Amino acid sequence: MSDTITIRRPDDWHVHLRDGEVLQGVAQFTARQFARAIVMPNLASPVTSVDAAAAYRERIMAAIPAGVEFTPLMTCYLTDHTDPDELERGHREGVFTAAKLYPANATTNSAHGVSDVANIRDALERMAAIGMPLCVHGEVTDAEIDVFDREKVFIDRVLEPLLRELPGLKVIFEHITTEDAVRFVDGAGDNVGATITPQHLHINRNAMLVGGIRPHAYCLPVAKRERHRLALRKAATSGSAKYFLGTDSAPHAREAKESACGCAGIFNAPYALESYLQVFDEEGAIDRFEGFASENGPRFYGLPLNEARITLDRSGVEVPGEIDAGGTAIVPFHAGETLRWTLRL
Ligand code: NCD
Ligand code: ZN
Repeated sequence: MSDTITIRRPDDWHVHLRDGEVLQGVAQFTARQFARAIVMPNLASPVTSVDAAAAYRERIMAAIPAGVEFTPLMTCYLTDHTDPDELERGHREGVFTAAKLYPANATTNSAHGVSDVANIRDALERMAAIGMPLCVHGEVTDAEIDVFDREKVFIDRVLEPLLRELPGLKVIFEHITTEDAVRFVDGAGDNVGATITPQHLHINRNAMLVGGIRPHAYCLPVAKRERHRLALRKAATSGSAKYFLGTDSAPHAREAKESACGCAGIFNAPYALESYLQVFDEEGAIDRFEGFASENGPRFYGLPLNEARITLDRSGVEVPGEIDAGGTAIVPFHAGETLRWTLRL
């Protein structure tokens, strides 16, 4: 058993970097671990225009420590009123790598999201025509649907019909959490891929609810039953090119999580690779880690693979109980645990 692994530098195909002082505090963690990242547009004032995305990209670049190579890949937040011409222009000019579909009110800062996919039909047709990828938060928001069923119902009611109507649309089914999603992605065409987070590979819903309510294990889509976690571990480590790394690192201040109405989101950026690699190690699939972390994502997006290499070794790392992000205290995923692998710098 080898004590080191050297792979192409990975990318993160789904991250929340926030803005202002928190951005200043958290960007370094993602940039240290990843060469590129698909940056989510759900700021308090969502990124819905080419100008807003270009300006946000500048703010991100200003937050990256000197000497660290990192490229933010921007996304456009779709609303009921997105103009297909604006989308196409942003994509052509290299500002929008993809567009993001948040069903209205599905998650943090999604109030301006799409209330019915029929309302963005023109935008989606244009994206299919120009090969622009669609990132999807796959949960319905109907009050009568149980929160643990929202991903499955989204597949049946939204995703499956959408892909029947626009079979060429490139779709990333993001942060999947169920065996239903795995079955759907496996059975779909090559134009459908999925990201998987470290938390959904490590924890099931017991981690959130047994022995007291644990707000730092709460994110959306919410962690499901054990059989779903096992299906995700199998998919991630299967070697299928459809699955790739997307952390969904979503920092919130400690007090915003530890609250009577705690925010959804897990901050996993500081030790994301260590966390993922532990799963691949446990599954006896270390040889498949590079595909998941560094190859499947760029191939799906049609982008070049990174040429730089990184090394992780088995020296282990203790995850701190709290991280100071530009003056905001944030509790990271795996707080207080020791992870077996360490990224060498
Ligand atoms: C994300 C956030 O906080 O922005 N939260 C989360 O639980 N994942 C939003 C999202 O991706 O759903
Ligand atoms: Zn997210």
